[in-house]
Amino acid sequence: AAHMGADLEKVLITEEQILAKLDELAKEIWAEYEDKDLLLVGVLKGAVMVMADLSRALPGTAPVDWMAVSSYGSGTKSSGVVRILKDLDTDITGKHVLIVEDIVDSGLTLSWIKANLESRSPASVEICTLLRKPEAAKVEIDVRWVGFDIPNEFVVGYGLDYAEKYRNLRVVGTLAPHVYS
Ligand code: PRP
Ligand code: MN
Ligand code: MG
Repeated sequence: AAHMGADLEKVLITEEQILAKLDELAKEIWAEYEDKDLLLVGVLKGAVMVMADLSRALPGTAPVDWMAVSSYGSGTKSSGVVRILKDLDTDITGKHVLIVEDIVDSGLTLSWIKANLESRSPASVEICTLLRKPEAAKVEIDVRWVGFDIPNEFVVGYGLDYAEKYRNLRVVGTLAPHVYS
């Protein structure tokens, strides 16, 4: 395989920008939760990089748990109907849950996950996402912490994939046309 950088059309967000933003968000998040029973919930697989860097930027410690979900049906995602492939290991009753995501695109995945977690009697459920595409929103969803609002373009890197590739890029960018053909 050729160097991944050759497949990028442009870099939208650099590694330095991502890490600086996550540091900033981590401070705000800690100010909100330092006296609370916080649980960080990552959504596999895209959120892995954000969780790694955001959680390590927190000034204190917090447990981390993971969910894996999939849309029903074989076609494209974002039907809004979600199936749990891997549930939390943690009972979240009475806990303050912070969902950590890489991107809110249509918002359908997160709005389903948020409603699902809210039905388990937690003390609170909030969302932190590195990226959001305001123009792609299909549902209203209250996202408490957003790293960057980006244009409605297909982006990869820093956890985000195209056909499971490019998650390990350190930057967020768009792919060159030759990758799709
Ligand atoms: C991507 C992304 C978000 C979701 C956002 O996950 O990581 O979880 O889509 O889309 P939405 O706002 O339109 O619902 P994907 O389903 O591709 O799985 P992955 O994280 O394993 O790549
Ligand atoms: Mn995802
Ligand atoms: Mg994906």
